[in-house]
Amino acid sequence: MSHDLEIAIDSVKKVGKMIREKYREEKIVMKKGKQDFVTNVDIQAETMIVDCLRDTGYSFFGEERGKMKNGSNKTWIVDPIDGTYNFIHAIPFFAISLALLEEENDLLLGVVYNPITEECYWAEKGSGAYLNGEPVYIRENKNIHESIFLMEHGSSEESRRKYLRCMSQLILQKDMTVVRQGATALMLCLVARGAFDGFLSCGDELYDYAAGLIIAKEAGASICDWKGSKWNNTNSYILVTNDALREQIIEETKQIQ
Ligand code: IPD
Ligand code: CA
Repeated sequence: MSHDLEIAIDSVKKVGKMIREKYREEKIVMKKGKQDFVTNVDIQAETMIVDCLRDTGYSFFGEERGKMKNGSNKTWIVDPIDGTYNFIHAIPFFAISLALLEEENDLLLGVVYNPITEECYWAEKGSGAYLNGEPVYIRENKNIHESIFLMEHGSSEESRRKYLRCMSQLILQKDMTVVRQGATALMLCLVARGAFDGFLSCGDELYDYAAGLIIAKEAGASICDWKGSKWNNTNSYILVTNDALREQIIEETKQIQ
């Protein structure tokens, strides 16, 4: 395990302890947009993470603070609470999501920590994916009609429209089951550990999915956009699944992107 990964895991656990203590307390909730919320705890958590990571000297991009460049070509990508709606309502499905990105598109590591269940997923480029130290692998189901996918959309109207088109296509044309859970980072980890066959999203932000993406990839998933092109960080259409289902899903999604 690299020193950067050790720092990342220590940081999410430290911040997770604070979040766990505030989980059942009354939160101050502010609205950033339609169905887009932030609480006093999100802000406090991001401040704590910045402090934990400062000595690494890397740049920083967090959901609440935006970009803080400092000349380094490595950037910590942080969502202090992914699944804020769930957190507000004490639904134990949210996580701290922390990834390290080199240049624009090279994900070096990712950590996703659910402070309530204390499940900590992590992955480093080329070294596999782990849940609390045990290796995890994606599911190898080849039958699209029996597949269960997770799917998310961002806050824009366009992403919600495309999400609906895609969902109706997959459910009606392919008899698939499609589920939304409100915390992209953890949903990608559920695919990584083989609980679901795949994940689709449109309109999510880099801090929502960066850590989960490398965890799913290291667990064996294929990552591309809805047309089958290689992922890059300017494209928010994401498909994560096994090689066997990938082409069958793209047949349905390529006209929608
Ligand atoms: C949200 C979650 C959700 C996604 C939303 C995000 P937040 O993150 O990742 O799964 O669909 O677009 O905003 O706001 O709870 O950190
Ligand atoms: Ca968030």
